[in-house]
Amino acid sequence: MDIRIKKIENSKLSNVDLNNIQFGKVYSDHMFVADYTEGRWSSLSIVPYDNLEIAPGNFTLHYGQSVFEGLKGYKGDNGRIHVFRPYDNLKRMNISARRLCMPDVPEDVFIGGLKALLQIDKAWVPEQKGTALYIRPFMFGNDEYIGIKPSDTYKFIIFTCPVGSYYSEALKVKIELNYVRAAKGGTGYAKVAGNYAASLLPTQEALREGYQQLIWTDGKDHERIEESGTMNLMFIINDTIVTPRTGETILRGITRDSILTIARDWGVNVEERDVTVTELMEGIRSGQLTEAFGTGTAATIIHIKAIGYKGVDYDLPPVPSDSISNRILDHLHKLQRAQTEDKFNWLLHI
Ligand SMILES: Cc1ncc(COP(=O)(O)O)c(C=O)c1O
Repeated sequence: MDIRIKKIENSKLSNVDLNNIQFGKVYSDHMFVADYTEGRWSSLSIVPYDNLEIAPGNFTLHYGQSVFEGLKGYKGDNGRIHVFRPYDNLKRMNISARRLCMPDVPEDVFIGGLKALLQIDKAWVPEQKGTALYIRPFMFGNDEYIGIKPSDTYKFIIFTCPVGSYYSEALKVKIELNYVRAAKGGTGYAKVAGNYAASLLPTQEALREGYQQLIWTDGKDHERIEESGTMNLMFIINDTIVTPRTGETILRGITRDSILTIARDWGVNVEERDVTVTELMEGIRSGQLTEAFGTGTAATIIHIKAIGYKGVDYDLPPVPSDSISNRILDHLHKLQRAQTEDKFNWLLHI
């Protein structure tokens, strides 16, 4: 598909220190925009990153018909840009879209737009270890309409932000026993905006209590562990990686899948199954649970140093630098910069 390109007159890059950036606060020069009208995608363009014009009666502002994705591009040793698993984000975006009665974004729009955008803004990809270009594709219903029915028109946009580390140290998290992130039949498996709005209040309460994140539990009896903030969860129990199985209530993380795939390839035992709060607490008490960590695009892997349960904090043991998770993290870092064999064909090279 043809993409119309209008470049910015003066790049903002000279005002930015790429090696010292707050996550999600700095936006690259351009964005990719496509419009869906009369049943098809058209008007593909790359334009300077700027405000959108939206009607006050825009359907999404009122009713939240919006899905998004998050992925990263990395600068390799040769100066090339490597995007990590973008086809998986495309697939997941369309799973989310179907849940909200939105059209699929075709591969040539998503991947074609992404490639063209990164060609133009490749100078925005930072180089230093721990940095990356965060890529945010999203789609929203664009009808001006008050009333509940799916929009007829949509906008799909990709913009990018150079980013540093999301978390700087291991987390103290609280097992949430009151609020619910997702229920069977709901939207937990989809990356829809409303899920995140609903998580704000419970997360604020946890922050006020001195935690950095929540661990969500199932909506029925708060006994099965689900995920944490915008991360999937994994535990090392008796040298096995144990992680809640994904289903209707858990987002299928691409980092999660990457870690499990590498672990299985290395011969590490992996179990995707129900993990209960009781099992977790007993594992901490007996010492059989040696690690807990969150996995996601923003942080890749971040360890949990303490878990709060019913008002009591349980400390986890320190994690040695050669632990399973640290070895996988190190491998992922190399893979993302194409410094090791891309055995599973995960990188898109720009
Ligand atoms: C709710 C939730 N769970 C898990 C993840 C981790 O997914 P991924 O590894 O694809 O970033 C994310 C982030 O996208 C998320 O928002």
